[in-house]
Amino acid sequence: MTIRPNVLQMVPYSPGKPIDEVKRELGLERVIKLASNENPLGPSPKAVEAVSMMLTQMHLYPDGAAFQLREALAQKFNLPMRQVVVGNGSDEIIHLLGQIFLEKGSDEIIVGDPSFARYDAAAGLADCVLTKVPLTPDMRLDLVGMAKAVGPNTKLIFIANPNNPTGTMVSRQEVDALIASIPSDVVVVLDEAYFEFASGADDFPNSLDYVQRYSNVVGMRTFSKAYGLAGLRVGYAFVPEVIADAIDRAREPFNVNILAQAAAIAALNDEQYVRDTVELNRRGIETLESVFREVGGTPFSSHANFVMADIGRPAKPVFESLLKRGVIIRSGHVLGMPNCVRVSVGTDEGLEVFVEEFRTVMSS
Ligand SMILES: Cc1ncc(COP(=O)(O)O)c(C=O)c1O
Repeated sequence: MTIRPNVLQMVPYSPGKPIDEVKRELGLERVIKLASNENPLGPSPKAVEAVSMMLTQMHLYPDGAAFQLREALAQKFNLPMRQVVVGNGSDEIIHLLGQIFLEKGSDEIIVGDPSFARYDAAAGLADCVLTKVPLTPDMRLDLVGMAKAVGPNTKLIFIANPNNPTGTMVSRQEVDALIASIPSDVVVVLDEAYFEFASGADDFPNSLDYVQRYSNVVGMRTFSKAYGLAGLRVGYAFVPEVIADAIDRAREPFNVNILAQAAAIAALNDEQYVRDTVELNRRGIETLESVFREVGGTPFSSHANFVMADIGRPAKPVFESLLKRGVIIRSGHVLGMPNCVRVSVGTDEGLEVFVEEFRTVMSS
């Protein structure tokens, strides 16, 4: 058999270490995971209730069109339903965008460096060109550089806003300038996985406004972060109708499962839960920024539910020492940022443990 060589060159996604694995391998009882930007509040009770009510229905296929969920999203965001698509996490929507736009080997995707790794996978799977544009010195996506990188074969530009792993944000003026300076057949994806944490900022460029104004912009969001449903896998996107039509042709017929659809509708209506999440997150960001400064590090300005910081020394040993102490974070060494760590906001108690263990590790 012959596996496509481009597939063999792809690097499998390396997720944050699972809690059970760390407990098992290191014989620890208390393990705190601050590595995957999950919601520390646990799921919304309304989502839990909706899922329990659907359990007896799981012998049935889900609604392949996810009608009720898409209708709820369309109503909430005041967009025609035919411009709303849903996926098995926004990961799937990224994958599908690659599938529908990238054809020839010369087709190109432009991404930030570093940015969210699944964009690279979309290019790798299609065996297309991946152009990575380094961040600005203040660790933000360089939209001027990304616009300059656009060439005749560019099909897609992915803008994670806020960016993962840095947490930094680009402004409305920067997005306006990028869109004005590129050809209108290049699709700009505004990936707003952390929208709910960032949207309070004055000059945050809400993708909805852009999708309404331009025919080449996609806005993408997720239920995995502020809505607390990472384990169920539901993402959604606001898209021009032609893209919705293409995604419908390319996607699996039942891509969002029956429990996920029910939970997402319930979570969407639990506005208090999202407000509580955002408030907890605000406190957590302050705590993280302050401990990073205390140890002489430099946190990057975060608009997400995690903070990345340059800690002024190799992050890998710090990551390993914290792991032995039952705290899982992300080390930047795998992202080409060897002196940086990325830490997700946890519960107040979880962050207290992190702060204590981090101080100990940094002073040793
Ligand atoms: C920028 C960004 N986009 C997309 C995703 C994927 O989210 P999900 O597939 O859980 O919806 C993530 C997850 O961490 C992310 O950080």
